[in-house]
Formats: sequence, C-alpha cells, structure tokens
Amino acid sequence: MKITFSQIKTPSRGVIAVPVTEDRALGPTARALDEETGGALTRALSAGRFKGKPGTSTTVVAPHGLALDAVLLVGLGQPAKIDGRRMRALGGAVVGRMNAAGAKSGAIVVDAVEGAAMASPAMAAEIAVGARLGSYSFDKYHTKKKDEDKKSLGQLTVMLGEPAAARRAFGPNERLADGVFAARDMISEPGNVKYPKAITQDIEALSADGVEVELLDRERMASLGMGSLLGVAQGSENEPYLAVMRWNGAPDGADQQPVAFIGKGVTFDTGGISIKPSQGMEEMKYDMAGAAAVYGLMKCLAGRKARVNAVGVVGLVENMPDGKAQRPGDVVTSMSGQTIEVINTDAEGRLVLADALWYTQATYKPRFMVNLATLTGAIIVSLGTFQAGMFSNDDKLAERLLAAGKEAGEEVWRMPLGERYDKDIDSAIADMKNVGKGREAGSVAAAQFLQRFVNGVPWAHLDIAGTAWMKRDYDPTVPKGATGFGVRLLDRLVRMHYEA
Ligand code: BES
Ligand code: MN
Ligand code: ZN
Repeated sequence: MKITFSQIKTPSRGVIAVPVTEDRALGPTARALDEETGGALTRALSAGRFKGKPGTSTTVVAPHGLALDAVLLVGLGQPAKIDGRRMRALGGAVVGRMNAAGAKSGAIVVDAVEGAAMASPAMAAEIAVGARLGSYSFDKYHTKKKDEDKKSLGQLTVMLGEPAAARRAFGPNERLADGVFAARDMISEPGNVKYPKAITQDIEALSADGVEVELLDRERMASLGMGSLLGVAQGSENEPYLAVMRWNGAPDGADQQPVAFIGKGVTFDTGGISIKPSQGMEEMKYDMAGAAAVYGLMKCLAGRKARVNAVGVVGLVENMPDGKAQRPGDVVTSMSGQTIEVINTDAEGRLVLADALWYTQATYKPRFMVNLATLTGAIIVSLGTFQAGMFSNDDKLAERLLAAGKEAGEEVWRMPLGERYDKDIDSAIADMKNVGKGREAGSVAAAQFLQRFVNGVPWAHLDIAGTAWMKRDYDPTVPKGATGFGVRLLDRLVRMHYEA
C-alpha cells in the first residue's frame, strides 16, 4: 500500500475518511462534505449509534452529490486524549475498514482539532504509520488466492493543510514500519525457508543500509568455547551462526559505548530429544521472533540514521532430534566457563542466549543489554498475548522499558527475579541446570538462568512467547500472525533516552 500526503481536496473515487470527535462535532472538511451532500453526514450521525468514540466508525455509502464511493466517519474520541498511540490505532482501523469495503484507493482528512495536544501534521504522521502497520499481509505462498480475498487498498492519501510537515514527520516512522515489516516477513516464513544460513543472508543484506555485519560460524563459535549454543545445534543438519549487526550512528563516533540487543533465533524448535507433542508444533517456526525483532530494529535504526551506536547479536540454530542430538543429562560448558546440565533439550532458547549474552558483554562492553526471546510457554499462561514479560537487574532500564512500551503500544509487565528463584536452577552435577522446579515459575527460572550470563551489565530480558504471534486481529496496527513485537518498543526506547 502506498501512502502519500496532499492538500485537502475531495477525491473523485474511492473512500474518504473523516475523523469526528466524541461530541459529534464535524471538523471544517467534514462540514464542507456535509454541505455538498445535502446534510448526509449529519443525518448519518443522528441516525445511528456512532458517537465518535475511538475505535468506532460509520459509513455513508454512495453519498448524493459526490462522485466517490463512500464517506467513512471515524471516531477520534475526546480531543484532550488524542495521542500518538490513539492516532496510530485510528490509521490502522481506517485501513481495515477500507479493505473490508473492498476499496482500492482511499483518503483520510486530518483537520486540526481544537483542544488537542497534537498539531495536525503530527497527527497525520501517526495516522500514516498506523495505516502502514495495519496494511501488512503475508501472501507470497498463495498462488490461487482470489483478489477479493486479498487486501484491496493500494493507495492511501493523507490530506491536511500542511502536507510537507507531515511527510517530514512520517520519514523516520516509515523506516520504523520498514523494520517491523522486515521482522514480520522473517517470522512468517516457514522453517524450511528461514533456516539459520538463510537468515544470515537477510542480515548481510543490511550492509546496504550501512550496518556492519559479522558472522560467526560453527568453527569460530567452537574456538570461543560456545558449548551451550553449539549443543543445541548439534542435532540439526543446518549449520548454526551467531550474527552480529553494528550500527554506528553516534555523532561522537565509534567510541561511544553501544547499546546492545540480543535475540533468540531458533529457526525451528521441535524440542529436540525432549520432543514436543506434534499438535501445534508448526507454530514453532516463530521461535526466531526475538532474532527477527533485533534484525528489524537494526534495519530501522540504520534506515532512520539514529544517532546512537547499537549492536544486535542473534543466535541462529535449529533444535532437532537426531542421532547426533544432545541428550537430556548431557553437561555442556558455556563460553563463560560455567557448566550446564541439560535436563530438558526443549529448554534450548536459554542455552543459545547464554553464549550470545556472554559474547556480547565480553566483546562490546555495552551500556545495557536487552534480549528478546520466545522463551517460555509459561509466560503465555501468566500474561497472555497483550504484554511481554520483562525481567531486569536494573530499575532504571526497567522503568524506561515500561514507559517506552506504553508509548509504542508494545507493553511489557515486570516480573520478579531473586535469590530464592535462582536456587531452583542449581544442579547436582554442574554449575546449573537448564530448567527449574517442574511447573512452578517457569518463566522466572528461565530468566534466572539468563541472568547468570550477563556478568552484572544492566540487562533486561523480554519473554515474547505470547506477544510475537497473534491468532486473531486484536489491534488495528497488528494484523494476525507475526507481530514484529519489540521493534517499536526498542526503537522508542532508543529515541527517548539514547540518541545524542
Ligand atoms: N520455544 C519454546 C517456548 C514457546 C512456547 C514459545 C510456546 C512460543 C509458544 C521454548 O523453547 C520451550 O520449549 N520452552 C519450554 C521450557 C520447558 C521445557 C522448561 C516450555 O515453555 O515448555
Ligand atoms: Mn523449546
Ligand atoms: Zn524454543
């Protein structure tokens, strides 16, 4: 879908959307349309239930006096409550309605709203990014899908008095949407297409955006002592990689300590010898969503030339059962020197991250590390799909993530860490084991495990098992399927606090 900005003028075809505040007051453009249609808009407003509440809309089809197909009245809510998040939801919802109506082109009018804290160019830019995010679909493997089953909207024009200002504000947000789409595409692909090496090829392509890429292959990882990550990879025919992406955008050059993002990239998780039940196992293609979010984030930061030094590290492996696969009870030695008893080969994400986290802090001395991982089914039991679990050893970083999540519309909920939980992963034979006490606090046990590999660096772990994939359309900016969760949150975190 193409998005353009223009001056306000009534289009001659397609659908035009006009926002209406909660007091059902029509803005100047809506008033003009109302006049042109002999009062069709005011009639529609009094005829139905539509009151201008956010998330609601009503359609005036084939309005008399206008050539276009329909006028869509969309709820803005109370002017005082207008903010970025609400505007993005509105943009996404408008695109959703236009697609549902089968419109090929549409326009949305953004008049200044009295009493709003946002000016119309900022509102328009947020509406545009919401529209873009909501327009996503992954259709490439449908060779026979009928046009009427596909998203119809090919063109959206955002109309306002100052289109140039809106276009400027949209610039970085469009790059953010590119990053989210890149992550969603990578996650949506099946495991036979996006195996570790294939993902490294996507990552290498980021060098065109100015990202420095380095790949560590099996040999290199073995020489660094990454026995924890390599133990997981052992059962797969697909070669594992650790991929490093560096974006150096800080104005004072490469000396500024980087911020670091680390992702779990299990391209398919069968569970290994502790094999998963076959029911629903196909979902485990999204077990690389943490890595995809890091990739999408790096693409976004480079795309919008963020004034920050950032490093992204992803551990790419496939977890398979095989004659060569690691066994329950095996003991592996991680790069940190700590030994791990592998009780359950299905608790593999933490084994991958153990070496990725240790390598990141040892190599880059980052200001902080944030890792993203579809780590535990237990976090879905705890929090469902609307908020990710956040575990942190640093209150300041945790607060910043909570706030960034609210603004970005990708929320996190802080979960506990503590010594008494930590004891649960002590092992009789090694320094630790890779699972805790049965079903108790499974997500916390996983986080305690990771914490043993951060070496005291300020760190947060985001368990995105619930938020990375949506079975239904819940949010107008996030169509069902791969969400790209984490890209918006971490872009916001960087924007709010780490750009010089
Ligand atoms: N990738 C899974 C976690 C997961 C589950 C992600 C559902 C997305 C949806 C992870 O590797 C895993 O298998 N975790 C186990 C841990 C257990 C063996 C301690 C789990 O959650 O059951
Ligand atoms: Mn697993
Ligand atoms: Zn997994």
